[in-house]
Amino acid sequence: MKKRIAIFASGSGSNAQKIMEHFKYADAAEVALVLSNNPEAYVLQRADNFEIPTHVFDRHDCYNTDELVNILKRLEIDLIVLAGFLWLVPENLLQHFPNKIINIHPSLLPKFGGKGMYGDRVHQAVLAANEEEHGITIHFVNERFDEGEIIHQSKFRIEPGDTLEKIKFKGQQLEHLHYPKVIENLIKKYN
Ligand code: GRF
Repeated sequence: MKKRIAIFASGSGSNAQKIMEHFKYADAAEVALVLSNNPEAYVLQRADNFEIPTHVFDRHDCYNTDELVNILKRLEIDLIVLAGFLWLVPENLLQHFPNKIINIHPSLLPKFGGKGMYGDRVHQAVLAANEEEHGITIHFVNERFDEGEIIHQSKFRIEPGDTLEKIKFKGQQLEHLHYPKVIENLIKKYN
């Protein structure tokens, strides 16, 4: 039986795109659902293009009901993948999916993580701190932003004169390359 992945995303979903492409013809797993807190998120269009079902939820559904847990259990989801999901994962999801929720963050955690550290703010902070290297982190999710156990990191050197756009692009290339493979390696270990 193929393992079943649910992707949570709030925005464009370029990582979700790479994951959906990777698993479209994979034997190990499939993307069974894409969820978003943002009805305008482009990731929903991307999911439609792959004919993958979507679900949009609001703050109340997320934090005050078991709706998400019920949907994910009903669809027999094995792994939850956050790909640009900006809200804290609710307690009931963490309880029902222990060590089965992962996230990607555009810095070398624990540096440049935590509440409010997302998007361009991360790269601005990296440049302001005159870092010599930068990169990405894939990690398990816990009840705090960007703090779960690290599964994978990839890095690159920051060259003199590198702009925000440049380091952001390099990071995105690494995300797109590694996230699908790391997911596949992880899911192959599940019984
Ligand atoms: C990525 O940089 C990821 O590290 C962070 O959010 C961004 C999502 O980008 N968590 P996209 O929507 O996948 O293009």
